[in-house]
Amino acid sequence: MNIKSILIEKALSAMAAAGIPEGTNPAVTQSTRAQFGDYQINGAMGAAKALKTNPRELAQKIIDNLDVSDVAAKTEIAGPGFINIHLKPEFLAASLEAANQDAKLGVAEHAQAQNVVVDFSSPNLAKEMHVGHLRSTIIGDAVVRALEFRGDKVTRQNHVGDWGTQFGMLIAHLEDMLAQGIDLENVALADLETFYRDAKKRFDDEEGFSDKARDYVVKLQGGDAHCQKLWQLFIDTSVKHSEEVYKKLNVTLTRDDIMAESAYNDRLAGIITLLKEKNIAVEDQGAQVVFLDELANKDGEPSVFIVQKSGGGFLYATTDLAACDYRSNELGAERILIFVDARQSLHFNQVELTARKAGLLRDETSYEFCPFGTMMGSDGKPFKTRTGGTVKLAELLDEAVSRASEKLADRASELSAEARAEIARKVGIGAVKYADLSKHRTSDYIFNWDTMLSFEGATAPYLQYAYTRVRSIFRKAGVDSAALSGSINIVEPQEKALALKLLQLEEVLDLMIGEATPHVLCGYLYELASLYMTFYEACPILKEDVSAEVRESRLLLCNLVARTLNTGLELLGIEVMEQM
Ligand code: ARG
Repeated sequence: MNIKSILIEKALSAMAAAGIPEGTNPAVTQSTRAQFGDYQINGAMGAAKALKTNPRELAQKIIDNLDVSDVAAKTEIAGPGFINIHLKPEFLAASLEAANQDAKLGVAEHAQAQNVVVDFSSPNLAKEMHVGHLRSTIIGDAVVRALEFRGDKVTRQNHVGDWGTQFGMLIAHLEDMLAQGIDLENVALADLETFYRDAKKRFDDEEGFSDKARDYVVKLQGGDAHCQKLWQLFIDTSVKHSEEVYKKLNVTLTRDDIMAESAYNDRLAGIITLLKEKNIAVEDQGAQVVFLDELANKDGEPSVFIVQKSGGGFLYATTDLAACDYRSNELGAERILIFVDARQSLHFNQVELTARKAGLLRDETSYEFCPFGTMMGSDGKPFKTRTGGTVKLAELLDEAVSRASEKLADRASELSAEARAEIARKVGIGAVKYADLSKHRTSDYIFNWDTMLSFEGATAPYLQYAYTRVRSIFRKAGVDSAALSGSINIVEPQEKALALKLLQLEEVLDLMIGEATPHVLCGYLYELASLYMTFYEACPILKEDVSAEVRESRLLLCNLVARTLNTGLELLGIEVMEQM
């Protein structure tokens, strides 16, 4: 159910009948205020400008040809030529009843499923995941869930960094530790962070160590079996670690979704050959370079994109070009979405331009770099520990759960300790996720425990609590929400506002999927919960003087609210509970 699409279609045929040329945007929008109706058709103004006629008269012509009797109770012209549409309560009620019967709440699957590759999370291995990985992981996961809900075919790709020069350093250090007889599992790799730091220190300070490290990289990338075995140890430990984080975070990534940098190794030489053959890459000081005039600086100097180092080594860039080829030409992706920190935008710009020239990306593939802003501390600088270190993601999530548990302890509860712990887990993790997902993807935001864990305002705890409140009505009434049988009747303005919001889920999901912006769904769920609270205040449900029909109709609305909150939160990867 997509009211906007229905109205667009009707508007388009009315505009055609009114003599407006094809291709004119009907500009259908949701009204911002009830006095302007529920939706507006605003296309008359733009069309009148193009046709050099009076917009109000043109709006009247559109209305004369507009057949909305099945959905609207009233249409009117306002201001310079806005057409306000007031929807019919019967139409809303019938649509809600249909949604109630449907497992997906009336949200239709795409008629033509799209083949979408989503590159998200993608941490560099051999280090623990830190807060910097949160955004890519949860924003990507929410978008993936929404795409799948709409019926698209998604290939998740966790493009983990497992092939860089840092592995030479790690292997060199590990060799020395092993020579000293240090227990591999329990000591050397027990804390990857410390191990990494120690290796890095030697790399920076110790004579000869960096050369040794470089030798190991060459050996590793050349396929040396011993090096690969040691390398595999790092990868396994690190992957296991990220799996734990994904589980904590309730993110849908599994080991099978890993498509690591190293997986493209065999393709890299071929990519360079191709770029050279097509004269896209040229030699410059021994390296292979692509000069991009499209990204020239203000002095007209082209942007420099190095695709092979002077010693012959391949780079992050080479791998991303190979990834384009694999995703577009082999997997046949129609969309490629990449969730990476905004600081890499130049890189992805260079990758796309080069890949398009070389045919590594088909014209039919849309390549969408989806950058995101930085999570900041209260000092307005990137979020760090008190001593200035990077915050481990696993530790941040544990802290969220313990803080949630403290907050919940203030509330009276008859639940068992076990049940309460489970609630604290869902609230704590949900709070961190919602606080992040609800911000516009591209903006920086300030991380604040108190706001995100508050039961007031746009937060996960507020929405989770709203859900439990709706569900408690059914417990109180002793009614099984799945067995409601009456019909919906929209009478009061609060019922109408709620009904309309419930029917806009598909519109919101389309927006979220189209622009890869989960914050629109976050905002929608908050508005829905708030409208529910208003409805609940104004429209009694279980009071004695409420007739059986009205009660049943309102319970049906409640049930739709609960299901929509649940579905929406699930698409954000946030869990609900029946009680809290
Ligand atoms: N591992 C990279 C990093 O931590 C992110 C990889 C993103 N994906 C890609 N195709 N380059 O910065």
